[in-house]
Amino acid sequence: MKFFIDTADLGEIVDLASTGLLDGVTTNPSLVAKSGKSFLDLIAEICEVVSGPVSAEVTATDHATMLAEGRHLAKIAPNIAVKVPLTVDGLKTCKALSDEGTMVNVTLCFSASQALLAAKAGATFISPFVGRLDDISFDGMALIADIVEIYSRYPALTTEVLVASIRGPRQVADAAKLGAHVATMPPSVIRQLFKHPLTDKGLEAFLADWAKTGQSILGSEVEPLRKPA
Ligand code: E4P
Repeated sequence: MKFFIDTADLGEIVDLASTGLLDGVTTNPSLVAKSGKSFLDLIAEICEVVSGPVSAEVTATDHATMLAEGRHLAKIAPNIAVKVPLTVDGLKTCKALSDEGTMVNVTLCFSASQALLAAKAGATFISPFVGRLDDISFDGMALIADIVEIYSRYPALTTEVLVASIRGPRQVADAAKLGAHVATMPPSVIRQLFKHPLTDKGLEAFLADWAKTGQSILGSEVEPLRKPA
């Protein structure tokens, strides 16, 4: 499963990219507004840090302007994935951009039939929002299961399921069990993935016991063993 970071905070992106575990970035107009930065400059800066897909969302709602915005964004770097909303105009734009060889992330997906349309329009990624469905007492993960199953029945569809609007680490594991291709997470959720109280407790005990030995791994040179051929 690929891990994308869902933020427009460059500091967080730089910090978590240093783990070597980040495969891409998603942004949206709300995250960009929160960053207070110039959108185009910010996306260019992100593309310098992360070589995987970087989603940048159009803000027009009509096909012609969406297409112009998408082409403009795609000029920033080859790893731009133009993000379009799941509307008729959005999917027309998706088809046109994907025919031109530009990656497209279709966002704001809330049903399996919408996901099928996006795949037919050549989307590189479909972004179903699990958290926002859970928020209104629907089952976000059931939608992921439906989309993964539908796509798997039509091998010609190459769209990747990008699980979005994730609220916690449990959803990441659940989506991975279903075979979703990508999870995009806020930085706080990525950090939570690393954590387990038994890891902390176990490490504390190992280090306390190690301290009793008085040894240091780097304290003496290592002679590589020479085994007879
Ligand atoms: C993904 O591309 C979306 O920007 C994001 O996951 C939305 O998450 P939210 O529902 O927490 O705003």
